[in-house]
This record gives sequence, structure tokens and C-alpha cells, in this order.
Amino acid sequence: MTVFIPQNELSDENIAAAGEILRRGGLVVFPTETVYGLGANALDGEAAKKIYAAKGRPSDNPLIVHIASPKDAEDIACTNEAYYKLAAAFMPGPLTVILPKREVIPSATSGGLDTVGVRCPSHPVAHRLILSAGVPIAAPSANLSGKPSPTKAEHIRADLEGKVDMILDGGEAAVGVESTIVKLDADGTATLLRPGGITHEMLQRVLGRVDIASAVTEALPKDARPLSPGMKYRHYAPRAPLTLLDGDDARRIAYCQKAPADTLLLVFDEETDLFAGHKVVPLGKKADKQSQLHRLFAALIEADAEDPRQILAPLPATDGLSLALYNRLIRAAAHHIKKL
Ligand code: TXA
Ligand code: MG
Repeated sequence: MTVFIPQNELSDENIAAAGEILRRGGLVVFPTETVYGLGANALDGEAAKKIYAAKGRPSDNPLIVHIASPKDAEDIACTNEAYYKLAAAFMPGPLTVILPKREVIPSATSGGLDTVGVRCPSHPVAHRLILSAGVPIAAPSANLSGKPSPTKAEHIRADLEGKVDMILDGGEAAVGVESTIVKLDADGTATLLRPGGITHEMLQRVLGRVDIASAVTEALPKDARPLSPGMKYRHYAPRAPLTLLDGDDARRIAYCQKAPADTLLLVFDEETDLFAGHKVVPLGKKADKQSQLHRLFAALIEADAEDPRQILAPLPATDGLSLALYNRLIRAAAHHIKKL
């Protein structure tokens, strides 16, 4: 049975009960500032395996480990100077740092890798839960494998009912896409594996050079072994085919207006009145990338729920916060771009 704790009942008592569930090897869905997480005790391999079962996640796809304070990384990973520079600039916050793991992290948690992703979330409920559990919490996004990451508890309640012990409703996630992931190697190389709310430019301001893994923007060749195993799996995909339109606003709008009536259009908030014959789902304000990130997964979920024949959306740029939009949308579209 799954206990659902609404937002107005996140008392110390209920958080303590959630912490107890985690310590005993159970599963708790909790809010973070990026997306909801499906948590288990990161030090307990059997508990971590339950996450893979509940999500239908391939077991070679490692879990991110959530800690209460940046220095707690030392218990689970081999930290270095670059880690502490990143921690000073961006933690707590939407950043995951990949470091060599210590033995306490079981291979079920690390997906068989000798590294571990460390993340110190800024969401107060996540923070209280980690402290209450008294152990680091392994948590992927709380969606079923292949579905968009959930930014509201209601997105997942039906999917996870009966599969987890407790769901903590913390309201809508602020950032709306998953944390930025950066890998730090022993030789000092830093590589961006997944763009998010902390941008490539922000990382470079702190670390100097940061490479971008090719899988962030490119389709992976068949049988590739990407730096981040999650990149090889289909993700964030609505059922209908999604095409990204590469052209200026005027051309994109004209193209959308001429699309068959059973096409669903993802458009900026300012444009929603321009498409009388079509279903439209707003994608956030045109000039406000933060609002677009915030809307992205909810927009994909809403689009999917309308069950259209096809979906059209603007192709994002690849600088600043746009890179995170680009990376998520290009995968939802299976790299299908229409040049206008
Ligand atoms: O914002 C987030 O990061 C959310 C919240 C819940 O914290 N979590 C999240 O986890 O997005 P997940 O499992 O959905 O995505 C983690 C990604 C996967 O693509 C995984 O392959 C990669 O991070 N990853 C995790 N540990 C890794 C490691 N040691 N080396 C390389 N990639 C890793
Ligand atoms: Mg995920």
C-alpha cells in the first residue's frame, strides 16, 4: 500500500516516518527542486534494486545519490578540489557531480560503475528527508522508465500506486528539468554529461574548461557506450511522433498553421491565439528560458494526454539554459528535425 502525504501535512512526524521507511529498505517518492525522485537507502543494495523494479529501469543505469550537505560526499566518494569549487558555487542546488565511488556504495546503486553521482538538493523537503533518514538517498526521477520526469506528484501517483511505500507531495518542482550532471576525472578533466539549470557557461566560469559529451546534442551510434548510461535509453517521449521545427518564428508559425488538424502544437505562451483549428499546449514565455524549462515536461505530458497524430515544437538554441531544452526535446523527438 502507498501512503500519500499531501503538501499541507509534511509535518516532522510524517517526514520521520518517511525516513524510517528508507532506513528499513523501503521506497519513498519525494520532491526536489528539479523533478520528483524515487528514493531508497543508497547504502543498501537490496533497497536500490527495488527502485529498478518499480521504475522498470535497466539495471546498468546508475542512480544519483542525494546528500544533506556537500561535505557528506566524502563518505561515499573520493572528492577533489574541483568538487569543492563546484560545491561552493552551486550546492545546494540542481547539480550532480560524478566522482570515483567508495566501497560503501553497492554496485546496485552505481549500476556496476566505479563512480557515483553526488547531489545535494536545495528543496527543503528533500533536505529534511535525507537528515531524517540518516543515510544518503539514491533516487532517479520518479517516472516510469521512458516517460517524462515528473514535476508534480499527481504526474506519478497513478503509475507508482502500490509500487512505493510513501509519496510526499511537495507541490510543483521549481526548475522542472533534472539536475545538470558534470563528471570530474582524476586528471582534472570536467565533462558535461547532462545540461540542466546550471549551465555550461556557469560551470566554465568556476572550473575553466568543461567539455560537452557528444551525447548531449548528437544521436548515439548503435551499440555506443556513452559516459552516462542513461543517455542510451529512449526518454521523455510522448507516444505521437514529435518533430522540431528549425526556422525563424514567422516560418514556424506559418508551417504550424498549415499543419493537418490532428497535429498538436507546442508553442510559446504569446502565440497560443494564432492557431484556431489546432490543439495547442503552451511551452512558456518566448524570452524566458527558465519558464520554458519549468513547463517542458508538463507540456510533453499534456500533449501526450491529448493523443494527437503528431506533435510540432520549436527547435531550441544550444547556448545557456537553452541547451537543457534542446537536449530533452531532441531526445523526445528521436532527433527528428524539420528545416524550414
Ligand atoms: O535532478 C535530478 O538529478 C533527479 C532528482 C530526483 O535528483 N534525478 C535524476 O536521476 O534525474 P535519473 O536517474 O533520472 O538520471 C540520472 C542520470 C542517468 O542518465 C544516469 O545514467 C546518470 O545520471 N548517472 C548516474 N550516475 C552516473 C555515473 N556514476 N556515471 C555516469 N552517469 C551517471
Ligand atoms: Mg530520469
